[in-house]
Amino acid sequence: MKRIKCSQILVMSALLAMSACRDVNKKAIISETAGTYIKTPMESTLQPTNFDTIIDGKAVKLFWLENKDLKMAITNYGGRIVAILTPNKDGNYVDVSIGYSNIKDYLESAESYFGATVGRVGNRIAKGKFSLDGTEYSVVPNNNENALHGGENGFQDKVWEAEQPDTKTLILRYTSPDMEEGFPGNLTVKVTYSLTDTRAVRMEYEATTDKPTVVNLTNHTYFNLNGEGSGSILNHSLQLNADQFTPVDQELIPTGELKDVLGTPFDFNKAHAIGEYIEQEDQQLAYGGGYDHNFVLNGTKSYGMNHAATVIGDKSGIVMDVYTQEPGVQFYCGNFMASENTLKSGAKDDYRTAFCLETQHYPDSPNQPDFPSITLRPGEVYHTVSEYKFSIK
Ligand code: BGC
Repeated sequence: MKRIKCSQILVMSALLAMSACRDVNKKAIISETAGTYIKTPMESTLQPTNFDTIIDGKAVKLFWLENKDLKMAITNYGGRIVAILTPNKDGNYVDVSIGYSNIKDYLESAESYFGATVGRVGNRIAKGKFSLDGTEYSVVPNNNENALHGGENGFQDKVWEAEQPDTKTLILRYTSPDMEEGFPGNLTVKVTYSLTDTRAVRMEYEATTDKPTVVNLTNHTYFNLNGEGSGSILNHSLQLNADQFTPVDQELIPTGELKDVLGTPFDFNKAHAIGEYIEQEDQQLAYGGGYDHNFVLNGTKSYGMNHAATVIGDKSGIVMDVYTQEPGVQFYCGNFMASENTLKSGAKDDYRTAFCLETQHYPDSPNQPDFPSITLRPGEVYHTVSEYKFSIK
């Protein structure tokens, strides 16, 4: 008989405790018959007091939104989605978004963007440089020589003013001062999160400026539709309504070309597992370390928005449809996740255990005259809506 060492027992019991903890996090919920409301374990983990603090002289809080189908936790630190609870095929709520249980972990995180509102310009600007109306601007580089997600201190680190007009809506406001991170113009931004009657998380973005500037806002939620901490997302099924994508160089900067996905591992027009072709020999997959690319949406319209994507959790049966008024979506499948952080479920953020679908204008737009423009001028209103809509297969 094989002997089990004491250290192995310790590891095994720790693993058992962790998996039990994850299961509990997915257990139900509401005792509808009794008419009493019992909190989900995740709601108990995510106590608002874990987030109460002052940063830059501003109050940070955790807000819970809910309607009859969904529950969502958001903090005004970075305008971040902390948890999204949606029922699985057994009727049990599953937390499908990656995050932390307290503000300290967000502040000390090795990953800056979990759930965050990203801005002023999502994704990369080559060398952090662009020119607008003949003036050259330099954004603080934070990704090799390039500026990623708005530079060193993007919107993910700002404390937003918050207003909760009702139980299913949260309004966040932030004014980004002229030349913040190198961007011109005082930019007044409003993000409205709401839960819709169609079981969607709706994000409405508005912005105005007092000088010509560039704006490309998105949400950077990391999803695992089987539940946070429940392993690889490579068996999730993905369908993307995109005949083209924007290939990149080794620094993940678009070359400017729009490339057909047909015959490449980037063809998700017919649903297939995220991992099906991910190990194929392909220059673009090599540059991204997997999928980390902007897809050009076909404009498959559904109630005035582009139907960007459908993702299905292989174990939970949870379906997420992504709708957007944006022309593109960045599909990133957690290639840089490196087990450096402990999530609210107790699990580590292991390699490719979450994916992002960031609705957006294309990366490096300010330097690509053929891409749709992200210039915003005084007197204009930036307005865009995206939705993550949940159902069950
Ligand atoms: C980028 C990735 C980056 C990630 C950061 C994505 O939008 O495309 O390259 O690592 O954000 O979380």
